[in-house]
Amino acid sequence: MTYLVTGGAGFIGSHLVEELLRRGEHVRVVDSLITGKRANLAHLQGVEFLEGDLADISVAHRAVTGVDVVLHQAAIPSVPRSVEDPVTSNRANVDGSLNLLVAARDAGVRRVVYAGSSSAYGDTPVLPKVETMPTAPLSPYALQKLVAEEYCRMFTRLYGLETVTIRYFNVFGPRQDPSSPYSGVISLFVSALCAGRAPTIHGDGEQTRDFTYVANVVDGVLRASAAQNVSGEVINVATGGRISLNQLFATLRDLIGGSVEPVYTEPRRGDVRDSRADISKAERLLDYSPTITFEEGLERTVAWYRSTLAAAS
Ligand code: UD1
Repeated sequence: MTYLVTGGAGFIGSHLVEELLRRGEHVRVVDSLITGKRANLAHLQGVEFLEGDLADISVAHRAVTGVDVVLHQAAIPSVPRSVEDPVTSNRANVDGSLNLLVAARDAGVRRVVYAGSSSAYGDTPVLPKVETMPTAPLSPYALQKLVAEEYCRMFTRLYGLETVTIRYFNVFGPRQDPSSPYSGVISLFVSALCAGRAPTIHGDGEQTRDFTYVANVVDGVLRASAAQNVSGEVINVATGGRISLNQLFATLRDLIGGSVEPVYTEPRRGDVRDSRADISKAERLLDYSPTITFEEGLERTVAWYRSTLAAAS
């Protein structure tokens, strides 16, 4: 089997590439390197690497040639980045996805597994968030991820292209880039605490998230790439728990040490208040259950940032 991992030089994409290679699969990566980094793949042998932007349809056509399964991870993430600059993120998240689907349809790809987002739910009145709930995107990023998800389902209905959307919930782990203000909160908190700096908390810190260690997402996505009777489906992959930012900060400070206090600042525009996944559909259709707990994931993540920082100094 030949797999194409779009965004394969990014955080989640590089973990998928690593696991596919470990299983002996043939892997091609397409990445614009806008947010991805070649360094994320430097430790891996035998990856076919194509540098290019899927917003250019000729790149999409080249990328899918001879491919059986596409794991579509390429995106410009971050809610606040999309609030600042909706056009650039739309180009990556919507135009790039549509081009990829057209190319996959034309090339006869067997299945596309798409990286959807929990942000599609918005502020639902009830938790946990289940796939049958109406969507209510609160930011350009959330809307863009949802539009591409709808395109996937439409391509299944119109053209018979097999697609599965996996909705991710706040994924964290090694190789998540902490260097931008738009980075995921765990990468920002860990790198600040390791450097003895005070992290920033937007709002009162009582907002909650279903933080998911990246290995669980890799497992869910690879199950979705092979499962029977899932074409056209949207499936949450997460842990099913939730933790507040204040709890996250306290847990990380216990793990890392030190006595810094967070700095509280204004809430972020477009922020969702609470997020927790119902994962029963993934259990039912994919035989998925999270294998790495939040605590174990945090420990692994802290260990990785520590060794990376030690190597850099
Ligand atoms: C959202 C999606 C997530 C998606 C991600 C992509 C939801 C519920 N989740 O994540 O599925 O993968 O976009 O970017 O919509 N925060 C701070 N201090 C910081 C940084 C962040 O307090 O320095 C807060 C944010 O205001 C937010 C929480 O931490 O309340 C998480 O932020 P972030 O890690 O950016 O992810 P989401 O926007 O929740």
